[in-house]
Amino acid sequence: MSELNLTSAPAHLRHGSSIGQPLTRRDGVFKVTGQATYAADNHPPGMLFAVIAASSIAHGRVTSLDVAAARRHPGVVDVMTPDHKPPLAIDPEIKTNPFVFRMEALQSHEVRYANQPIAVVIAETLEAATEGAALLAPRYEVLPALVGLDAGESFVPPVVGVGNPTENHLGDVEAGLASADKQIDVTYETPPQYHNAMEPHAIVAAWDGDSVQIDMPTQGLALSLARVAELFGIAHDKIHIRSPFLGGGFGSKGLMGGPPVLGLMAAKLVGKPVKLVLRREQMYGPVGHRAPTRQRLRLGTDGEGRLTAIDHHARTVSSTFDDFYEPAADASHTLYASPAIRTSHDAVRVNTGTPLFMRAPGEATGSIALESAIDEMAWACGIDPLAFRLKNYAEAEPMTGKPFSSKALRACYDQGAARFGWSKRSLQPRQMRDDAGLLVGWGMGTATFPALMFQAEARAVIRRDGSGAMEIGAHDMGQGAWTALAQIAADELGLDIDRVAFKMGTSDLPDAGIAGGSAHTATAGAAIHSAGAAVIAKLADLATNDGRSPLFGAGNTGVIARNGRLIRRDDESRGESYGEILTRAGVSEIEARGTGAANPAAMEEYAMHAHGAVFAEVKVDPELAQIRVTRMVGAFAAGRIVNPRMVQSQLFGGMIWGMSFALHEEAITDRRSGRIMNANLGDYHIPVNADVPPLDVITVEEHDPHVNALGIKGVGEIGITGSAGAVANAVWHATGVRVRRFPIRIEELLMQS
Ligand code: MOS
Repeated sequence: MSELNLTSAPAHLRHGSSIGQPLTRRDGVFKVTGQATYAADNHPPGMLFAVIAASSIAHGRVTSLDVAAARRHPGVVDVMTPDHKPPLAIDPEIKTNPFVFRMEALQSHEVRYANQPIAVVIAETLEAATEGAALLAPRYEVLPALVGLDAGESFVPPVVGVGNPTENHLGDVEAGLASADKQIDVTYETPPQYHNAMEPHAIVAAWDGDSVQIDMPTQGLALSLARVAELFGIAHDKIHIRSPFLGGGFGSKGLMGGPPVLGLMAAKLVGKPVKLVLRREQMYGPVGHRAPTRQRLRLGTDGEGRLTAIDHHARTVSSTFDDFYEPAADASHTLYASPAIRTSHDAVRVNTGTPLFMRAPGEATGSIALESAIDEMAWACGIDPLAFRLKNYAEAEPMTGKPFSSKALRACYDQGAARFGWSKRSLQPRQMRDDAGLLVGWGMGTATFPALMFQAEARAVIRRDGSGAMEIGAHDMGQGAWTALAQIAADELGLDIDRVAFKMGTSDLPDAGIAGGSAHTATAGAAIHSAGAAVIAKLADLATNDGRSPLFGAGNTGVIARNGRLIRRDDESRGESYGEILTRAGVSEIEARGTGAANPAAMEEYAMHAHGAVFAEVKVDPELAQIRVTRMVGAFAAGRIVNPRMVQSQLFGGMIWGMSFALHEEAITDRRSGRIMNANLGDYHIPVNADVPPLDVITVEEHDPHVNALGIKGVGEIGITGSAGAVANAVWHATGVRVRRFPIRIEELLMQS
């Protein structure tokens, strides 16, 4: 399905102007009734099942696999190993561009991390494939595993994130620290975390000669298509990928990893369609994760509590064979004014699957450390944390000196603090109790995320029957693209949303860029905006140049598109319908394309970020140190809000993840074996409903004329930033104990108090 049939969708609020309306998810009914087809729901005729056998060691090589035993198992069709597999057109280790993940496609017997695919069993049933994989009984030559932030010699990576400089300097940090009235020097650790999208990575691959039909969740249809083309040496037009729905991605479905490639290879090997779905524990390895960090922050303030220096150094890890470096220290570029700022990174290589972008990459890890340090500095100065942040408010982006394209952070602080009741907070920790005697703590954090844009194209159509179409290869990971982008399309085409055939989610549609970096609505929205404007301009040309039209002579800019009609700007009573214009012109439909992309001139001139302020309350049992988050308020300014309901949902999700970062999440690696000991949703803790307190989201009005034509920033990732620090700071305020290793654990609170 790449187009929603709205006749069975629920009645929504209906307005002439769709942008800004809190429409419910247009795909919601399909999801709750099971009609939404996720990748693994596909079952082409003759399909076989592929199951990955994954390495139980983290470093070494596979010395034997009992392929014969697996092959003898009833139902097993074939066993794909490094010695028996279809060839690839290029070495999967070659990084053809920075957005390529080095992957394991069974190119050797070498093992570089636990859970690395070492073989694939293909069978008539899932059960037979699973049993066949168990019968492989691999034997290994085991080498010592490199584990943890001190696993080996550290080095300075060439870049962090995607091409960010490893080090940045402003002013003289050492002088700023030396002249400071107060100084802190604190080190925080954040753990490895895994994306844990509800929907596992999956593929259904069906070859027909050298053409292939792929069902696969992806945050980047065009990127995935290009990767398949280069790996299999086939033309782009031989590949069709369907990805109408994703059960979450969070970055892990942005770059194509090894498992879907193994599915494609398996289908090629057996000459039949093949389905390959990762088991939950197999997602802890080959499909990316958030790298651990150790971050040292040195801050100095003058006698007034103004920052004199920020020095932020982050140590992180990458795999032994690829390069992704969590840009954690970059969080200190944007938030607080300081005459001197230095950020730097180093890394060690460990036996892990390569880390990757994970929701708010860099900002999430960096911001929990920075926001904790700011809280510690405020306390050292004896200043309320909000007052301290206002004292150090950045009027221009500190690291670059550029003005902000817009920044309603003061309003976020004001509105969030008022809603939360922040003014009643005690300055001293461990002062507040509830009626049951629990310690109460209030903490806050500032949220920020860059307003990024990638590049997208869209195709717009107006038809003689008065309907329209908008086509764009966009992705709905659950964030609401089916709804929000269709709202933009409706307004740009001057039609009710139900009159627009909105198509997305397949690779044959115009490239919408990657759904990541909180940039998808802005980028795809900008393409829809320009395609819509272009098709309306063509329609206006037809009318305003035709003496029979009531719009004759109005000029292209003299007409407005509204409710399926073009009307005169100077006299709204004069106009005609799209159908009338096209019928008279003798055409059945007209179409136009448009592009959305960042404006380099505006980016040169302005710093572009969304902002927010998050306030959290925790209650801590004074004897048992059990921590509960009891309420959170987040106020966010992110430019134009296309759909307040979807935006609120994104911000809720981010705030919950922030709380999870502070209190719950950690992948635990066994130091001896390098295996992840909690690779399942029972032992890898994420908040369940009972952990999630009442959440309050305020969207603060903000108009940004510079970010893009529609004034849209992003909301996907900002919610996690600020929130993690707010919860951590609330725990300190409740207990007086500062835990600098996340997640904050009961035992650390007990040991330190
Ligand atoms: Mo996001 S980590 O850019 O999906």
